[in-house]
Amino acid sequence: MRMVDVIEKKRAGQELTDHEIAFIIEGYTNDSIPDYQVSALLMAVYFQGMSARETAVLTQAMVDSGETIDLSSIHGHKVDKHSTGGVGDKISFIIGPLVASVGVPVAKMSGRGLGHTGGTIDKLESISGFNVEVSKEEFVRLVNENKLAVAGQTGNLAPADKKLYALRDVTATVDSIPLIAGSIMSKKIASGADSIVLDVKTGSGAFMKTLEESKKLAQEMVTIGTNLGRNTVAVISDMNQPLGYEIGNANEIREAVDVLRGKHVKDLRDLSLEIGSHMALLAGVFDSYEEAYEKLAANLDNGEAFNVMKTFVAAQGGDVSMVENTDLLPGAPSRIDVTSEASGYVTSIDAHSIGTAAMYLGAGRETKESKIKHGVGISLRKKIGDYVKAGEPLAVLHSETESQEDARRLVADAYSVGAESVPSPTLIYDVIR
Ligand code: URA
Repeated sequence: MRMVDVIEKKRAGQELTDHEIAFIIEGYTNDSIPDYQVSALLMAVYFQGMSARETAVLTQAMVDSGETIDLSSIHGHKVDKHSTGGVGDKISFIIGPLVASVGVPVAKMSGRGLGHTGGTIDKLESISGFNVEVSKEEFVRLVNENKLAVAGQTGNLAPADKKLYALRDVTATVDSIPLIAGSIMSKKIASGADSIVLDVKTGSGAFMKTLEESKKLAQEMVTIGTNLGRNTVAVISDMNQPLGYEIGNANEIREAVDVLRGKHVKDLRDLSLEIGSHMALLAGVFDSYEEAYEKLAANLDNGEAFNVMKTFVAAQGGDVSMVENTDLLPGAPSRIDVTSEASGYVTSIDAHSIGTAAMYLGAGRETKESKIKHGVGISLRKKIGDYVKAGEPLAVLHSETESQEDARRLVADAYSVGAESVPSPTLIYDVIR
């Protein structure tokens, strides 16, 4: 088979065979097909798209390019959750203990990553002593005993995706829906869960800015999951402003704990209950969505979900007193108010700028070597639809320095305040099965 013929076929809008897709992925992974030919193919895919069959075959080929995680020694139906990413997204810390509290095993492998805050693991490491370097055997034992464990990602999952993603990044072919869907799903499928719930974000702070694009991506990922034998559900949720009020590492753990203790932070609670209910339903623990929702809501209010959080933190070596009293989590020495210049209603908050400001404060990593500052971050005081008086704080920066003008300016500019009141945005736009 010649790569040039495969490129020509895709350029003409024809479907590639399973054999041709396997040829590309194997050849690219073992360096027998050069970057320039794969670049040309990616551009042809960008313009011509891929059928559902091609996308599923591509995803499986990327899974087969590396290791897969075998979770079969964990009892029960394992359901994983994945978010396409957003600012203030601490839903995983709520959902993990919450669905574990109704008996669903949650075996979460996570990374650190680059971003405006740290990844799941960095945030958990705000809790002194919390250890994610657990062996495979220990991980299985912890999930079997407590229904919840989080481990740092080990192993070489979907290396073909890693290589292709890097090439897409420099050839203007990242934003192709079949390529994004295949990329995300290859990593989820290699991680070994039986079922997957996806939280596809939409809006100004999300990867997908419009509802139409987000729906297409969600549908494509659900189709891949289904074609590869995983029950998959996608929830399309809002990212036109940060989720909750807290952005940072310790800050986000603190707010997640508040919700686990029954605090009604509306968007966080509602989205956690929505996603958690789909997870519990896929795991076969309940007969209906309504039954799942009711039980999960009860477990937020009666302390069951919080008890699981404490057991989970203790089992992984973390200092439980920091969860019982979140004032003990790391903080920052300076608080800088970002005040409103005008009186009026908050009409929009650019989530992306808030994320960048958190990065300026040191909450995230710009390079792999950067050190995360666990205690810095941003607390929003106002969200879309709220009234603010001139001189009142819109947000507070938690900073290691007394002045942090770049971050303060960005947060101030991220807010728009107008005379007319606006409703707070819809939180959940659709559920795709
Ligand atoms: N995230 C991924 O993992 N892959 C993509 O292609 C885009 C976002």
